[in-house]
Amino acid sequence: MLTSPWTRAAQAGLTWCSGSEVLQSDGRALLKSQPHPTINPNTLARFVDPLPIPSRAKISGYRPSPDGARDKLPFYRIEMREFAERLHRDLAPTRQWGYGASVPGPIFETQSGKPLMVEWVNSLPEKHFLPIDHTIHGAEANLPEVRSVVHLHGAKAPADSDGYPEDWYIPGKSATYLYPNHQDAAILWYHDHAMGITRLNIYAGLLGLFLIRDDLESALNLPSGKYEIPLVIYDRMLSPDSQLYYPVSLKAGAPWVPEVYGDTIVVNGKIFPYLEVEPRKYRLRILNGSNGRFFALALSSGQPFYQIGTDQGLLPSPVVLRNILLFPAERADVVVDFAGKEGQRIVLKHQSKEVMQFRVLSGGPKETGSLPDRLRPVTAITQSSATRTRSLTLGEYLDASGESILMLLNGLHWKMPVTEKPVLNTVEIWNLINLTGDAHPIHLHMVRFQILDRRPFDIFTYNTQKQVKFIGPPFPPEPAETGWKDTVRADPGVVTRIIIHFEGYPGRYVWHCHLLEHEDNEMMRPYEILHG
Ligand code: C2O
Ligand code: CU
Repeated sequence: MLTSPWTRAAQAGLTWCSGSEVLQSDGRALLKSQPHPTINPNTLARFVDPLPIPSRAKISGYRPSPDGARDKLPFYRIEMREFAERLHRDLAPTRQWGYGASVPGPIFETQSGKPLMVEWVNSLPEKHFLPIDHTIHGAEANLPEVRSVVHLHGAKAPADSDGYPEDWYIPGKSATYLYPNHQDAAILWYHDHAMGITRLNIYAGLLGLFLIRDDLESALNLPSGKYEIPLVIYDRMLSPDSQLYYPVSLKAGAPWVPEVYGDTIVVNGKIFPYLEVEPRKYRLRILNGSNGRFFALALSSGQPFYQIGTDQGLLPSPVVLRNILLFPAERADVVVDFAGKEGQRIVLKHQSKEVMQFRVLSGGPKETGSLPDRLRPVTAITQSSATRTRSLTLGEYLDASGESILMLLNGLHWKMPVTEKPVLNTVEIWNLINLTGDAHPIHLHMVRFQILDRRPFDIFTYNTQKQVKFIGPPFPPEPAETGWKDTVRADPGVVTRIIIHFEGYPGRYVWHCHLLEHEDNEMMRPYEILHG
């Protein structure tokens, strides 16, 4: 008897990835994409693979620094390569692109104020294995398919080492960047930033962590060594043959889709991994590396997390939370205490989805030290120090059928003249006016900032009269957002205000939405820091 492909897929234990599936898992209607069979993660055995810990990046030598400083600097050479590895014991190896042929890439570790150099080598194949949309600006058909440029997210780096999206290069080429690391201890991460295909390159695996440490942090006696665990978490979709599946639109020749949500959650390169832990405190350094999915992480034991840091480093004091909310590109530095949980199996969950398991062993060396209640003081930047306030809209543009075609910052395309030109060493307030129905994580390169508040306004009045009419009081930032940030969630129908001190280097940088599908389709703008 003939069955439809839908039924066959269901019989084979696969679900269809389609608009309706996305609607179920995220409670929102969007993504009119081609139906395609994908592996239903619920059919996979839970917690059969140990959690991999990414290797440390290795110094390959010392080189004179390009800025003429006398000391030779540690030099790293990292190759981007195609490779295949199992995401789960019962799956076939999955083709991926990784820095150092691993996903996530090797972890850099350095001290604040200790510069280093990296040669980022593009050794990828000439053909992309994910669907490029040549109608998108910067990804035209006359350009090479495989292009890459590396950005160190959260770094205070000179403009020519920042990975400007148009500074991409092709297989066989490389770029050497200088990272001065004159900044507080924090979880940074490096990832691809090539114009118009960033979403595909990161989905393929081009991401990794970069940890900066400093004396203040070391003095806190936080769990370290094998008690400090990096967790790079992102979602993916897999075809029945275990290969990465990236959804495509229904429009022939224009495969871009406005958002991607995979039903399979991957941690450090494995699906449903487990980690054996001792009954004591652990420090988890968490990155949401997803293209579009936010995470609301909780522990099945109901126990709290102690969030000690955010994007740009330590919070003033630990924040006790049952749920860690992370939008794409946001980081959380978290302490979890497994003391008294001997023999338990505790699952890290995102809503109803299982992410990974902690198996608490029955013993281990006795733990000394407790979590300090003071971490790093964060002095609020005073609003009166701002020399300028900018109002910037986040807008979505639909075609006649109501489908999303692109999102823009302040209604401007990438190629239009630069409009944001803050002066080095001055303070500005940016009002992010979100006119869309989605939350957008907005990221500025080079700087760190503080969140002032979020205040709901009436979108209709704005659209008709170009005036912000507030419809409620402002909300202060969440307790876990009271440190230094580099990515901020701009809620729909809300003005999110951030205050930025433009410290660091002059030059051309970018600011953008970190939902990678938006970023690639023009929700990104250059900005220029002018000499003071
Ligand atoms: Cu995480 Cu412009 O990047
Ligand atoms: Cu966006």
